[in-house]
Amino acid sequence: MSPDPTTDARLQHLLTLEGLSAETLTDLLDRAQAMLPDAHAGTALRHRHAGRTLCTLFFETSTRTRSSFQLAATRLGMDVLNFDIATSSTRKGESALDTLKTLEAMGVDVFVVRHADNGAVAALAAGAAPGTHLINAGDGRSAHPTQGLLDMLTLRQRKGADFSRLCVLIAGDLRHSRVARSDLHALRTLGCGEIRVCGPANLLPGEDVLQGCRVFHDFDEAVAGVDAAIMLRLQRERMEEGLVPSLEGYFRDYGLTPARLANAAPDALVMHPGPMNRGVEIDGGVADGPQSVVLAQVANGLPVRMAVIDALLVGA
Ligand code: CP
Repeated sequence: MSPDPTTDARLQHLLTLEGLSAETLTDLLDRAQAMLPDAHAGTALRHRHAGRTLCTLFFETSTRTRSSFQLAATRLGMDVLNFDIATSSTRKGESALDTLKTLEAMGVDVFVVRHADNGAVAALAAGAAPGTHLINAGDGRSAHPTQGLLDMLTLRQRKGADFSRLCVLIAGDLRHSRVARSDLHALRTLGCGEIRVCGPANLLPGEDVLQGCRVFHDFDEAVAGVDAAIMLRLQRERMEEGLVPSLEGYFRDYGLTPARLANAAPDALVMHPGPMNRGVEIDGGVADGPQSVVLAQVANGLPVRMAVIDALLVGA
């Protein structure tokens, strides 16, 4: 893997995709693609990181990210510690950093951390020992870098490596979405030809996040001719009351229905990071339809997470 000129020559942590070069992103995607056979069936990498330990430290709920990190580490031969916040001494007031340092003292090499607060994972990384690696599994609305990578891998597998030919729409609650921020960093860095965003004005972030994007509020206009539509759920756990008057009205105006999808490019991809709220941001038939790659995205989570762990442990 070639060094990233925008950061240290070696990736110590993966906290965000912002600032990573196209070469680094491409090398991570290449590494993930090469690991694909071993992610789902093979055993060739079962001894690659034997003796190393990965700990999942999730202060927020997860199905996909946590499970696929567990499996990814197992495929690489690592010991896996699934730390249970709910029954831990964090409930007695122990801080997140003291928790991390306690587990570090037990020999954990890689921490995969999800937290509700923006910047929380970077703060933990700053307090970690020099040889410890942290991977951001989602912090507040800031970043979800491995989701961004698996989305790019899915796009690249289906549409080719030349992102300049693509028109990609991200629609829904971008304001509260860490996935949107990581996808936007990756799409811009990889040279996506056109990036569209669409949602109600009160669910879109500021111009600093949307730089270089075409902004739409009319979903029918936004979806016309796109090569891929990345649908986002309403992040009600991060949302103040009243931003969405009714879920029925939201689906009417911003739900991806078969009729709307018919206006996208004929072979357009339907993407969603999950969890989906069927009948809110996406019609159930579209989610399960032939253009949906939602489960392919999930499947790509394994090789992408294997590639990231490998890059941190072996060297980027
Ligand atoms: N996409 C994603 O982060 O899903 P989980 O919350 O289930 O991990």
